[in-house]
Amino acid sequence: MSVYKIRYGTPEDLVPTNFARKSLISYKSLSENEVEEISFKKTKKGCLLEIPLRAGNEVYGFGLQLKGFRQTNLKKTIRPNADPISNTGDSHAPVPFFVTTDGWGIYVDSARYVEFNCGYTKVTSASDNSKVELKTDFESLYAKRESAYTTVLTIDVPFAEGVDIYVFKGESILDAVCEYNLFSGGGCDASLWGLGNLYRCHSEFTEDQVLAMAEKFRKLKIPCDILGLEPGWQSCSYSSSFCWDQERFPNKEDVLRQITDMGFKLNLWEQAFVHPSSPLYDALVSYSGDYKVWNGLVPDFATKGAQEIFINHHVPFNTLGVSGYKLDECDGSDYTGQWTFPLCAEFPSGLDGDQYHSLFGTLFARTMLQVFGENKTFSEVRNLGALAAPYPFVLYSDLYDHRDFIRGVANAGFSGLLWSPEVRHAKSREDLIRRVQTVVFSVQSLINAFYLDDMPWIEKECTDEIKRLLELRMSLVPYLYSAFYDYKTKGKPPVRALVCDYSRDKNTYNIWDEYLFGDDMIVAPMTEKEKEREVYLPVGTWYNFFTGEKIEGGNKFTVKTDDIPVFVKEGTILPLARPVQYITRDTQFEITLNLYGDTSNTQTKLIEDDGCTYHSPVRVLKIDADTDDLDSFRYRITNKKKII
Ligand code: GAL
Repeated sequence: MSVYKIRYGTPEDLVPTNFARKSLISYKSLSENEVEEISFKKTKKGCLLEIPLRAGNEVYGFGLQLKGFRQTNLKKTIRPNADPISNTGDSHAPVPFFVTTDGWGIYVDSARYVEFNCGYTKVTSASDNSKVELKTDFESLYAKRESAYTTVLTIDVPFAEGVDIYVFKGESILDAVCEYNLFSGGGCDASLWGLGNLYRCHSEFTEDQVLAMAEKFRKLKIPCDILGLEPGWQSCSYSSSFCWDQERFPNKEDVLRQITDMGFKLNLWEQAFVHPSSPLYDALVSYSGDYKVWNGLVPDFATKGAQEIFINHHVPFNTLGVSGYKLDECDGSDYTGQWTFPLCAEFPSGLDGDQYHSLFGTLFARTMLQVFGENKTFSEVRNLGALAAPYPFVLYSDLYDHRDFIRGVANAGFSGLLWSPEVRHAKSREDLIRRVQTVVFSVQSLINAFYLDDMPWIEKECTDEIKRLLELRMSLVPYLYSAFYDYKTKGKPPVRALVCDYSRDKNTYNIWDEYLFGDDMIVAPMTEKEKEREVYLPVGTWYNFFTGEKIEGGNKFTVKTDDIPVFVKEGTILPLARPVQYITRDTQFEITLNLYGDTSNTQTKLIEDDGCTYHSPVRVLKIDADTDDLDSFRYRITNKKKII
């Protein structure tokens, strides 16, 4: 692996690396003259880089792209937006970082709306003059055409007279992504309980209704670790007062204690905009931008002042059992009036509106993380950007197309992001089951019932099915926690597209609707409308997770099942836990080791720590097919199952 920083011209002062964690890897600095392949010039708009792109070298990334996957030959403008409607680059979490199947990754250190053209033909580049067949039918006329010649990838940075880029080179996309994440400060350190199930209650619930929901989960024995309170916990939420509503929560200390005594963690919805009735308002005026949103201040989280005011106000909530936040609205919608600040806004840190728009969610998350001090969280946010891997905040969306949500699962891992294809209402029983199947095989198992009076499966009469899926999620927690350990220490995304690991296998280049879940499982979710689907598994032997059926990879095949199609790689030792209702510091998981095929040379690992604080000692427990006893307070091997 090699990592280089290359400086072109004179970069701006305020760029994402100023606010980032310390890199966990070293890199070599080069001057622009030392890199012949890349050309740079200043333009009327800002500055421009051109990088050759070999035909067949495919491009991915640019953050959480819900509308597109393979970005070769396409144009992407990196612009945060709550309502991305097409594959233009608009996103809840756009990131100026891309990767290619040749194992290159390039990060552009800019908080501007950078425009990338991923393979355009320069007049000077060698082109071929073979004739192109005339297409007349609509589909082939407008189909994406492959280019057979070397093109250039342009990086157009507005306003700036120069820019630093960081180049990561490995054998595969995965190598480049890992290096980018380590450069960002490593993948996040998620709490163990955060990997359980999260249920968000109706916005208008009173404390008694939240308590009743908590009791219902325990009575029905449906596993749930976290209850989320939506806007109604606050006296004013659009914009936020950050204070409890006394009418809905008159006895909050008492009621919330009853809820946390049942093993739940609490998570509070907030957006950053500060309402004039908030006790934070006066002190924040001088640390905010010069335009309001929803009549609220827009705090400048690049200033120490705004950070401290937020942190000090929120720390006392910790004693109520608040262990996470959902940081809403920081992406900004352009289609709904006044939902974000104009780009001409100015901020006291010196950031302008464009720059703050790109950094808002990341700086907000970074600030709120400090509220918990030594305690780990696993929270939510609706905007992130460059270098965000170290923040344990998962992205979500108000959009709801199931296929777009699945594409998000595959895409997020290219850019140091975590994404949950959350479940809300459903059109039908099938729709609900299919959506819950997807979410339990994602980084965060989230049911966002913020406008539902009851658990959505009650009305759809599929409580047993959903309960089994949420239990399955609990079985997967130890395996997923190990994947998160690799994220933290190696930068390896816990969930990622097939092309990351199989960058030489062309069959994976367009697969956006399957993904790796940890190192050893491939998940191919189905949506309500599909009665069957095609699945591709890379060359090698695989096993159907539910039936044990053995499958030879390398070809597509058709799957017809009510389960979610999930496949396990030959040689895997898969530790599955007996589901618990919720996870505590003392939980001991009873583990069944599932041995797939020939596991004589395989090792796997389980991570033992307290699961909830950053500096707890960590033990990496090595496990092979012969391991029977583990000297561990967290795990006990109770069973072994051979799948052959
Ligand atoms: C939206 C958010 C939803 C829900 C809602 C509450 O902005 O995306 O998940 O929290 O606000 O009003």
